[in-house]
Amino acid sequence: MLVLGIESSCDETGLALYDTKHGLLSHALHSQIAMHEAYGGVVPELASRDHIRHVLPLTEAVLAEAKKPLSTIDAIAYTQGPGLAGALLVGASIANALGFALEKPVIGVHHLEGHLLSPLLSPEPPEFPFVALLVSGGHTQLMEAHGFGQYRMLGETLDDAAGEAFDKTAKLLGIGYPGGPAVSRLAEFGSPNRFRFPRPMKYSGNLDFSFSGLKTAVLTQVKSLKENICEQTKADLTRSFVDAIVDILVDKSMTALKQTGLHTLVVSGGVGANQQLRQGLNLAVKRCGYRVHYPNLSFCTDNGAMIAFAGAMRLKHWPDEADFSYSYTVRPRWDLSDITRY
Ligand code: KG4
Ligand code: ZN
Repeated sequence: MLVLGIESSCDETGLALYDTKHGLLSHALHSQIAMHEAYGGVVPELASRDHIRHVLPLTEAVLAEAKKPLSTIDAIAYTQGPGLAGALLVGASIANALGFALEKPVIGVHHLEGHLLSPLLSPEPPEFPFVALLVSGGHTQLMEAHGFGQYRMLGETLDDAAGEAFDKTAKLLGIGYPGGPAVSRLAEFGSPNRFRFPRPMKYSGNLDFSFSGLKTAVLTQVKSLKENICEQTKADLTRSFVDAIVDILVDKSMTALKQTGLHTLVVSGGVGANQQLRQGLNLAVKRCGYRVHYPNLSFCTDNGAMIAFAGAMRLKHWPDEADFSYSYTVRPRWDLSDITRY
């Protein structure tokens, strides 16, 4: 089965072709980062318009790269939510128009299921069951995954997501957008001993997170310095910020493995690209005798491959999810438990 995947939930237009026999055939991405940079964050209306500009050229690009004519597509998967309503509507309408024209089924994919399954696209994919740590710009969650569509929430953030904390801290220090990669790079030059930020909810006794206090702690520290913040001070601040986030994520992930009795941790989402987090997790799993899997770096952030893959897996396991109605709605807010199938 050849599945075309379309991702357009936020600021990346991602297209891909996934073949259930031969794996990922092609993928292409257009990032809107440069366009939103001037505003310091995603402008929803601009995002929708930009998806419209790129979705068809990228569809043609993935078909050409895979040397597959449009007529060979068996199904179309698109991100139905969660995300920005206008942005989601672009992918949904293109998917349904193509499905209608080709008389092929369409399937709406949950963006977080796409992220959660993205490590399974790697050459040595993890096997179920595993604990999934999903750390993106909009979500921070720990889940137990027992199979396709079989997910149980263990804990999640009560306020900001980890990626959001990175982005807000970067904005506060004026070091670029999106914040994750910029903060991470600068932290490499920082001293771990100059500042110490709190570890919110580390000892909460459950697997929930809270990150909004962390950026406030950085702000309070910046104000108390009463000086022009030089580059070294920024590096020291980012270093302590990253250390705090990594400490919390590693600690809760290890607790989740211990509590569930599972031995495999699977990390996904944009913050999963973070090298300090990867180092911290690698050390911790080694110490505790667990395993950890990450997606290919290019599949940590939003992409079409994870949507094509998740759509293909759902159609393979539950052919009844194939939609031939071509009437659609997007789900800007959508709980992952709604798509759980046991
Ligand atoms: O998964 P994603 O592309 O989009 C959402 O679904 O939210 O994640 C984007 C988030 C942003 O907040 C970005 O700052 C963060 O992932 N991010 C990183 C890194 N690369 C991206 N955070 C920390 N370190 C990175 N290397
Ligand atoms: Zn995402």
